[in-house]
Amino acid sequence: MKILETIDIIRAASRAARKAAQRVGLVPTMGALHEGHLSLVRIAKEKSDFVAVSIFVNPLQFAPTEDLAKYPRAFEYDCEVLKQEGVDLVFAPSVSEMYPRLNLTYVNVEGLSERLDGKSRPGHLRGVVTVVSKLFHIVEPDVAVFGQKDAAQLAVIRRMVRDQNLPVEIVAGPIVREPDGLAMSSRNVYLDAPQRSQALVLSRTLKRIEDLFRQGERSAARLLAAGREVFSGEPDVRLDYLSAVDPDTLEPVDSIERPTLVAIAAYVGTTRLIDNTVLQV
Ligand code: PAJ
Repeated sequence: MKILETIDIIRAASRAARKAAQRVGLVPTMGALHEGHLSLVRIAKEKSDFVAVSIFVNPLQFAPTEDLAKYPRAFEYDCEVLKQEGVDLVFAPSVSEMYPRLNLTYVNVEGLSERLDGKSRPGHLRGVVTVVSKLFHIVEPDVAVFGQKDAAQLAVIRRMVRDQNLPVEIVAGPIVREPDGLAMSSRNVYLDAPQRSQALVLSRTLKRIEDLFRQGERSAARLLAAGREVFSGEPDVRLDYLSAVDPDTLEPVDSIERPTLVAIAAYVGTTRLIDNTVLQV
């Protein structure tokens, strides 16, 4: 497994792979890898012949008040597990390699970038789409794999690829959870023991909504109200949003007639966690 830090070299390596008739897969990450990330690597391995994983904590997607400085980093461990997974290439650029000068060029999916997480974290999704666009130009993958866990991120990336006619297939991997239901996240390490158990209210809220939906409830308002009732059982956790939206446009829906994304974000202490489920009609 090669570990590369510069754009020119990774582009050359990726082009060489493609020239050898290999399909190139990319899994973009910010490191501090867990089973959720590794599940995406395994999908990339199935879908391509040459797998690159990027590890880059992207300053552009953090607001000044957010956790950029303390974001968990575990580079050596990450490389070790990626090697065990049979990854071909790790791209781990420095901030100055990715942003050698003040970044003036943004790729923004207008409207979509202001919904869900984009609404509570202004500029976040614009920062995500901009770096993913850069990574696509650097690695030139045939296929890129993202987690369903970050459903709003997935929607804006899909839309960016379509609007910009990028020749990359976007594949989504299902949410990987801890045995008790908590969605895996690099940020879960911020939680102390009581918070770790409070955090279960996110998946419990979604589970209640899924159960009611399975019993035939189709009104988004009633499903969300039932979810909020479960959520209020954990008064120390602060709800950011609980929404039922179209998975592509992220626009709210009133009645569940098509596959609908039910997404939740909440603060456990100062840690912001997200989770979601897609109700399949
Ligand atoms: P990061 O949070 O490191 O996540 C990298 C990828 O792993 C994303 O596609 C995310 O959706 C996926 N992922 C995270 N937790 C998961 C879980 N429990 N199950 C399945 N997949 C999971 O998302 C980012 O980094 C960044 O925004 C990035 C796309 C790399 C751009 O900077």
